[in-house]
Amino acid sequence: MKAIIVYQSAYGHAGQMAGKMKEGLEESGLEVTLSAAKKTDPKMLLDHDAIIFGSPVRMGSVGNEMKTFIDTLGGVWLESALQNRVGGVLVSGGGFNAGTEMTQPALYSTLMELGSVMVGFVNDMPGYGTGANHWGPYAQVGLEGKDGPSEDCLTACYEYGKRVAGVTKSIRG
Ligand SMILES: Cc1cc2nc3c(=O)[nH]c(=O)nc-3n(C[C@H](O)[C@H](O)[C@H](O)COP(=O)(O)O)c2cc1C
Repeated sequence: MKAIIVYQSAYGHAGQMAGKMKEGLEESGLEVTLSAAKKTDPKMLLDHDAIIFGSPVRMGSVGNEMKTFIDTLGGVWLESALQNRVGGVLVSGGGFNAGTEMTQPALYSTLMELGSVMVGFVNDMPGYGTGANHWGPYAQVGLEGKDGPSEDCLTACYEYGKRVAGVTKSIRG
């Protein structure tokens, strides 16, 4: 089974999160593609059982490269070609109260429109509350980005990868 993480990352924070999530997915037996949003063709998603969107918070919402990629998905949406895939998100923001919890459901909205089955983050998983909320893993890297994703955040990404893999196997197996 295969997962793809499509993400935008100018300073490497969302990329670091995606890398940790990849480890969790692989640990659970999935084959993983990491794909920069600006280099991702929508048709690449067709070949994957799980689809994860990763974005920084930019001016309170989804980053421009992710949004541009999302706007290329009309064709596969028209064909209902991505239904019943497993969907998840990861988000990196400067501070938690500056748009992270708007960006997470904004990404989910697109995954829902494509017909995905969403995977949240459960409150007994390591990293919950400090590196993830119920929507999924998040980073709080500070106003100037110097803090980077915390250990708790990276743990949450890894654990979330394992959870997404488990759900993918039960739904797509
Ligand atoms: C143009 C711009 C706008 C940003 N807007 C926000 C914002 O509204 N809220 C927030 O929490 N962080 C904001 N940030 C901070 C980034 O979300 C944060 O540094 C993030 O970790 C960057 O991820 P990346 O290194 O993967 O690109 C902004 C950063 C830039 C460059």
